[in-house]
Amino acid sequence: MSSARCILVGLFCAVLLGGSLSHGQLTPTFYDESCPDVTSIVRGVIEAALQTDARIGASLIRLHFHDCFVNGCDGSLLLNNTATIESEKDVLGNSNSVRGFGVVDDIKTALESACPGIVSCADLLAVAAEESVSLAGGPSWSTLLGRRDGTTANRTLAGINLPGAFDTLQILKDKFSAMGLNTTDLVALSGAHTFGRGQCSTFDPRLYNFNSTGNPDPTLNSTYLTTLRGICPENGSGTGPADLDPTTPDAFDNNYYSNLQVNKGLLVTDQELFSTEGEDTIDIVNSFSSDQTAFFASFVESMIKMGNISPLTGVEGEVRLNCGRVNDEDALLYSSI
Ligand code: HEM
Ligand SMILES: *[C@@H]1O[C@H](CO)[C@@H](O)[C@H](O)[C@H]1NC(C)=O
Ligand SMILES: *[C@@H]1O[C@H](CO)[C@@H](O)[C@H](O)[C@H]1NC(C)=O
Ligand SMILES: *[C@@H]1O[C@H](CO)[C@@H](O)[C@H](O)[C@H]1NC(C)=O
Ligand SMILES: *[C@@H]1O[C@H](CO)[C@@H](O)[C@H](O)[C@H]1NC(C)=O
Ligand SMILES: *[C@@H]1O[C@H](CO)[C@@H](O)[C@H](O)[C@H]1NC(C)=O
Ligand SMILES: *[C@@H]1O[C@H](CO)[C@@H](O)[C@H](O)[C@H]1NC(C)=O
Repeated sequence: MSSARCILVGLFCAVLLGGSLSHGQLTPTFYDESCPDVTSIVRGVIEAALQTDARIGASLIRLHFHDCFVNGCDGSLLLNNTATIESEKDVLGNSNSVRGFGVVDDIKTALESACPGIVSCADLLAVAAEESVSLAGGPSWSTLLGRRDGTTANRTLAGINLPGAFDTLQILKDKFSAMGLNTTDLVALSGAHTFGRGQCSTFDPRLYNFNSTGNPDPTLNSTYLTTLRGICPENGSGTGPADLDPTTPDAFDNNYYSNLQVNKGLLVTDQELFSTEGEDTIDIVNSFSSDQTAFFASFVESMIKMGNISPLTGVEGEVRLNCGRVNDEDALLYSSI
């Protein structure tokens, strides 16, 4: 499009040009003019939620991860079922597992009140992830912003892309690699299991008859095994949850890695980073365990990389007004009242 024609059609073209000139890049200054308090607004709502739910920060960062791994960081995970949307919330791995949607809605309400129609739900999740880590004692960083919200969800793709609690290390590597994330990213991002919880079903096959051996998982510390058996009795009479980091359950630190060194990883996918013979992940676990600063630096780099997975930018997608539904449906809803 010529710039002369752009002058004629005015604002619409300015938006288009702005989008194309930025080459779809995210930037930390995206809301500096339009919603300068976005970070403190998000932080305030999470701080309030933490008063009654020590786990909420962990739940929020997991939402960003599960959003980004399915069609990029486009807020698709937040969409509920409708006649045309098959919600990703209902896939195995999300169903009865991902949580925090009420707090996401509270954050969105606060953002809409301060700067109506400006901050996307995809960016909301990215900022919430960063602030959750920071509030738990982990690193802070400048979140890259400017994502727009998608208008579709893909439950089938969620089933393919999201890692499962019993995936082998090779499958984990493959699933991360498909997202442009390498082995260092895999080990660093797994460090998010330094806080939050896992339900019995995500690890109890390790406790009694692992892999039909008649014995527990041999890579499970025996005192930890006793603790976990207390939380999750045989044959499914308990739900837990158990702390993903039994040493400092709600703090963001590098104890996740020192746990792995003494066979106290909760999930198969945690422990195998350290216990799979000959793997390149072992040295990375050891280095993060011995140097929290190095872990934090890698974690931030990998979070930014994950947050950059195929964002919608410019005039793509929309800024959803309600994170649970696309804007068109708002119109439908209002017209049917
Ligand atoms: C490496 C592959 C991964 C696998 C297989 C995995 C699997 C799981 C599972 C099974 C749970 C427990 C869910 C439940 O009990 O309902 C969980 C929780 C969690 N995951 Fe992961 N995860 C992985 C990577 C990540 C990444 C990359 C992040 C974030 C950067 C993350 C953040 C979390 C957090 C914070 C929790 C606790 C959530 C809460 O307490 O609500 N995980 N994960
Ligand atoms: C969802 O993802 C699957 C798997 O990649 C793909 O085959 C399908 O076309 C996608 N559906 C939509 C509606 O994009
Ligand atoms: C469990 O069994 C599966 C399938 O037989 C195998 O691929 C996997 O390596 C086994 N895991 C362990 C830790 O023995
Ligand atoms: C659990 O179920 C298995 C298989 O049905 C059975 O052999 C075992 O005795 C049960 N254990 C307990 C503690 O109920
Ligand atoms: C099990 O954990 C204890 C600490 O609680 C540790 O001293 C011991 O070395 C661990 N055992 C194994 C086999 O890692
Ligand atoms: C993996 O990605 C990180 C950035 O997240 C980068 O620093 C590192 O060099 C990469 N490693 C390899 C082997 O490419
Ligand atoms: C979507 O579902 C979540 C629970 O998963 C709920 O908190 C939220 O209010 C719903 N939003 C809409 C627009 O229905």
